Amino acid sequence: MRILFTGGSGKAGRHAVRYLRDQGHRVLNLDQTPLDEPGIETRIADITDAGQVHDAMTSHIALDELDNGTDPQPFDAVVHFAAIPRILITGDAECFRVNTLGTYNVIDAALKAGVRKIVFASSETTYGICFAKGERKPDYIPVDEEHPTVPEDSYAMSKVVNEASARSFQARSGADIYGLRINNVIEPHEYETKFPSFITEPEKRRRNIFAYIDARDLARMVECCLETDGLGYEIFNVANANTSVAAGSAELAARFYAGVPMTREMGAHETFYLIDKAKRLVGFAPVHDWRQELGRDA
Ligand SMILES: NC(=O)c1ccc[n+]([C@@H]2O[C@H](COP(=O)([O-])OP(=O)(O)OC[C@H]3O[C@@H](n4cnc5c(N)ncnc54)[C@H](O)[C@@H]3O)[C@@H](O)[C@H]2O)c1
Repeated sequence: MRILFTGGSGKAGRHAVRYLRDQGHRVLNLDQTPLDEPGIETRIADITDAGQVHDAMTSHIALDELDNGTDPQPFDAVVHFAAIPRILITGDAECFRVNTLGTYNVIDAALKAGVRKIVFASSETTYGICFAKGERKPDYIPVDEEHPTVPEDSYAMSKVVNEASARSFQARSGADIYGLRINNVIEPHEYETKFPSFITEPEKRRRNIFAYIDARDLARMVECCLETDGLGYEIFNVANANTSVAAGSAELAARFYAGVPMTREMGAHETFYLIDKAKRLVGFAPVHDWRQELGRDA
């Protein structure tokens, strides 16, 4: 496939563009930051500028495409990850502006250029727990995609707005537009640096509903979405099948979720961030578990 990928220079995007390249796809990375990665072209562009996004969407990927004398070929898919990735990096209004306007521009330009498959990064923060003032508990556990999305902060608000924009774009176009409510992304080197404290201090993972997703599994989830056509508009939780801490799920529920309804029995270490929908509809099957990465049995 020819894929335009926004935000491919970032933490999550780097792994996804590499993975997609390695699967044989031709990837154009649209980002404000260069990416030094063989086989991946980067177009420096600002997603908040509709003209720049439209230009990238309708241009050649690289100089070699000039040789056959044809017009730029259309993209088969767009994956949109570029964003301000949380609050307290920029001002709140700037975070909201970049994320909502950027997403509008990317989906609008993609559809007008004839793209029929768009995958975009939403976030676990839409559920309102991650960046709540003080402690907020889920309405119920495990948290599935039907859980209310009423966050308190500008970043998560921007993601809720993006989901609404995407749903409306899908209603008009009939294209496939899938949103990923991504949990906390972990790069391979972070198992050594971050997990020792996650494992023993589960309170550190409360805001992430005790979940995580390996960046390589997220890359595979993107590919699952690219391979699965005809779903229309869908939203998917994306996380590992297990929690990020040593304590079992029953112990965590007793300690952190007293009074929160549990809608079904949980597996011994099963995530409270339910990924059944992604498994069922696109065949998602995360393989990078922290226990294996750290060589631990339990
Ligand atoms: N990292 C996580 O734990 C996490 C969790 C949930 C959702 N997400 C979402 O996943 C996506 C990727 O997150 P990440 O952690 O890789 O973030 P990141 O900040 O590492 O990468 C984002 C990329 O977007 C680019 N970018 C920002 N503003 C831009 C603009 N105006 N025009 C063009 N490019 C721009 C940046 O240069 C950067 O390379 C984001 O949409 C983020 O909200 C991330």
